Amino acid sequence: MQFEETIEVDPSVLEKPENEDYTSSGYDTSTKSLTSSYNEYIVENGRRYHSYYGTEKYLMPTDEKEQERLDLQHAIFRLVWNDKLHEAPLTEPHRILDIGTGTGIWAIEMAEKYPMAEVIGTDISPIQPCWVPPNCRFEIDDAMQDWTFRDNFFDFIHARTFSSGVSDWEHLISEMKRCTVPGGYVELCEQSLVTDCDDGTMKPDHGIKVFTEHMRDAMRKMGRPWPDLAFLKNLLENAGFEGVTAAVAKEPMGPWAKDPRLKRVGSMSLLNGETAFESYGMALFTRILGMDVEKARKICENGLLAARNKNYHVYDPSIRVYGRKPI
Ligand SMILES: C[S@@+](CC[C@H](N)C(=O)[O-])C[C@H]1O[C@@H](n2cnc3c(N)ncnc32)[C@H](O)[C@@H]1O
Repeated sequence: MQFEETIEVDPSVLEKPENEDYTSSGYDTSTKSLTSSYNEYIVENGRRYHSYYGTEKYLMPTDEKEQERLDLQHAIFRLVWNDKLHEAPLTEPHRILDIGTGTGIWAIEMAEKYPMAEVIGTDISPIQPCWVPPNCRFEIDDAMQDWTFRDNFFDFIHARTFSSGVSDWEHLISEMKRCTVPGGYVELCEQSLVTDCDDGTMKPDHGIKVFTEHMRDAMRKMGRPWPDLAFLKNLLENAGFEGVTAAVAKEPMGPWAKDPRLKRVGSMSLLNGETAFESYGMALFTRILGMDVEKARKICENGLLAARNKNYHVYDPSIRVYGRKPI
């Protein structure tokens, strides 16, 4: 077949190194011009990222690999926190909101635990399942905008491992407070990223420590410093929540703990690490810190290698903070 017109090659593609392909950073693989739906993605370094709200909004992949990891991480949280889905002392909640719900697994299990409650999960990425309990539903919503929910609406608002998507904590907390009923609760759950050990086996050049330091750097550079326990506690207190309570639980990396529950947590965390280092690190290191792909990948790989090393007995504290809206 003969065509009269030839397709011109984008000069920016020609300028790229010969040995790269479209899975490297910096290629425009956006499908934005093809659709105005929420299903807009870019593929970068072999992973698929959601891009409807722009590539700076959220820097973790949302592909199937990440969805599997999120479900595994949920199981880890349950084990770390003695099977509790929340710490706040809820009594017969009627309406529950989970922001940045991911695969919606927490929202689904809350709907099963509280069959009389309506549970809503929101996210910018449409990765939630269709087959859910009748009292659970999902909405696409950017939690960093003004919320469309009414004042004094939810008995409980929850956000877990959501800090990588938070550009303005004060705004987020004020929306959470506005939409919580007086006497209702707000709870935040995060990984602290302060990898530590109790027996001196973690040296300053430990792969996970180096990895988390780069992550913190990148988040600072984005103007989204990673929150610690004191930060989250202050945030709720300054917003006027009462009875603000903080809890920490150690999450070992690798099956080095003697305690059977913590050993299991460690095994699951190691499995989680198989994709977590890449999920958390690649876009942050390449897009925000400007690293080349090889260097970014090396830091992620070294994190995983350190996690697999039985001679290091490290853990990452998991943190939870909750508070009550005054009556
Ligand atoms: C690390 S995942 C955690 C998912 C879930 N909370 C869990 O614990 O399994 C963070 C989620 O927040 C979502 N997210 C990021 N920025 C957001 C925003 N501005 N508004 C709503 N969701 C957002 C992402 O799409 C992703 O699904």
